Amino acid sequence: MRKKIVVGNWKMNKTVAEAGELASTVLEQLGNGITGCEVGISPAFPALAEVGKIIERSDIHLVAQNCHYEDDGAYTGEVSVRMLGSLGCSYVIIGHSERRQYFGETNQTVNLRVRKALAGGMRVIMCVGETLEEREGGVTDRIVTEQVREGLKEVSDLDGVVLAYEPVWAIGTGKTATPEQAEEVHASIRATIDDMFGETAAGHLRIQYGGSVKPSNAGELFAKPNIDGGLIGGASLKAEDFVAIVKAAGDS
Ligand code: 13P
Repeated sequence: MRKKIVVGNWKMNKTVAEAGELASTVLEQLGNGITGCEVGISPAFPALAEVGKIIERSDIHLVAQNCHYEDDGAYTGEVSVRMLGSLGCSYVIIGHSERRQYFGETNQTVNLRVRKALAGGMRVIMCVGETLEEREGGVTDRIVTEQVREGLKEVSDLDGVVLAYEPVWAIGTGKTATPEQAEEVHASIRATIDDMFGETAAGHLRIQYGGSVKPSNAGELFAKPNIDGGLIGGASLKAEDFVAIVKAAGDS
């Protein structure tokens, strides 16, 4: 049985002080209520240290939004896996569609980052998902399969890997994939994983859904057999909404 995992991706929002406040409120509202579900929060780089201190003694994971694929050196503006580890991060999000769309991230650079993070003992949340044009063109399956295959190329062990299926057209738009649409892609990702890593591999791999998840739709999404939690954007910026989504995952 796979344990659900819900992560709040705060994207480029909140100053250090605001992020600290949000983390404290989430912690307070969750209390000891994290059952049956793993929880993480992912502030922007400047707030990692502050949020890390606040959640240090809790079960909440500190999650980074990206990492570089070199150990160190002349890479202005980049952050290494070791730096993130020294701040207490246990997970890093890699290949988010906003990185792919606005910052030239490709399946190849996603793969480099995934391998570097895993080699550095960091767990990864690797994001995949099709654009609206790709969905309407009937190539969702081909695009997502390619992202999974290339992103996980030469990865030998899936232990530290979580995948997030985030259809680009559902991110920040208020348009959620229906539970059936999401379930269909998740099932297809599992088939790809079994094909790549051997027949029982996908049974242990967690695949989150992301894209306009809210307290009102979380329950029905998480009830699908192949959906193992969520990667939450907008709704994670409101403590009550995020906590309600975590509880929905715990109950499902
Ligand atoms: P929204 O929940 O705001 O649609 O964002 C989803 C997302 O991109 C999480 O990584």
